[in-house]
Amino acid sequence: MSDIKVRKCLFPAAGYGTRFLPATKAMPKEMLPIVNKPLIQYGVEEALEAGMSQIGFILGRGKRAIADHFDISYELEHQILGTSKEKYLTDIRKVIDSSQFIFMRQREMLGLGHAILTGEPMIGNEPFAVILADDLCSVPDDKSDRALSQLVELYDKYQCCIVAIEEVDAADTASYGIISGEEVAEGIYDVSDMVEKPQPEDAPTNMAIIGRYILTPDIFDYLRETKPGAGGEIQITDALRQVAKEKRVIAVKFKGRRFDCGSVEGFVEATNYYFESGDWKL
Ligand code: G1P
Repeated sequence: MSDIKVRKCLFPAAGYGTRFLPATKAMPKEMLPIVNKPLIQYGVEEALEAGMSQIGFILGRGKRAIADHFDISYELEHQILGTSKEKYLTDIRKVIDSSQFIFMRQREMLGLGHAILTGEPMIGNEPFAVILADDLCSVPDDKSDRALSQLVELYDKYQCCIVAIEEVDAADTASYGIISGEEVAEGIYDVSDMVEKPQPEDAPTNMAIIGRYILTPDIFDYLRETKPGAGGEIQITDALRQVAKEKRVIAVKFKGRRFDCGSVEGFVEATNYYFESGDWKL
């Protein structure tokens, strides 16, 4: 196991996106654009930058546009071939050419842990990454890597499950998985406990899990044993809590800025940030 590189990344994308209704009535929330690029493409590009070559999507009903986005659009591409507009497809073509995409349906929405367990046939017996595309992570600065690359680097060292964390306002703990643990190196914690969406008075700390994980394949056995928790759902946090107790889970304060694009406020912040960065201009 120890030499196996992380090369597969799962994208759970089954949620309804109710906070963006009516925009998400007929369109997946993951396809909402931050300036001119769908949210999920930012996540896939981050995965590719981190060395992933197989991208697995766990989709719910009504999410076909995601599969179409990562496929050739034959008619459109034929129409603009050789024109000045062709450049607008360069980035997405690069993404499509450098990875394999696998799609699975989560028939019932029983929680994030259940969505990850649904992906087991795509993963098999190797470590893998999970990205929650709602959490958009920017490049910290010119010299540093994005969040998932930071986790992959740590996996090479620790060879165990790893989660990204960030300090949040103490009043907001009920929106996140919260960890506690001992700091073993700057910003790196050996997790002793974790709890999904605790009320502020029950939260052990304000260190919140952000949607970036590296998981070892034994997580599937833990998930099979995990009973529904917060919100009546099978939570990855509960499965990882058990891993932390029996084996090891590392949490890292990743470098960079995170936008909560599952909320309208975070989505608008991310839009302004990327618009001002000018990266979208061709
Ligand atoms: C999920 C996880 C939670 C984590 C959060 C990060 O919650 O269950 O532990 O802190 O993502 O965005 P969700 O936001 O899907 O309710």
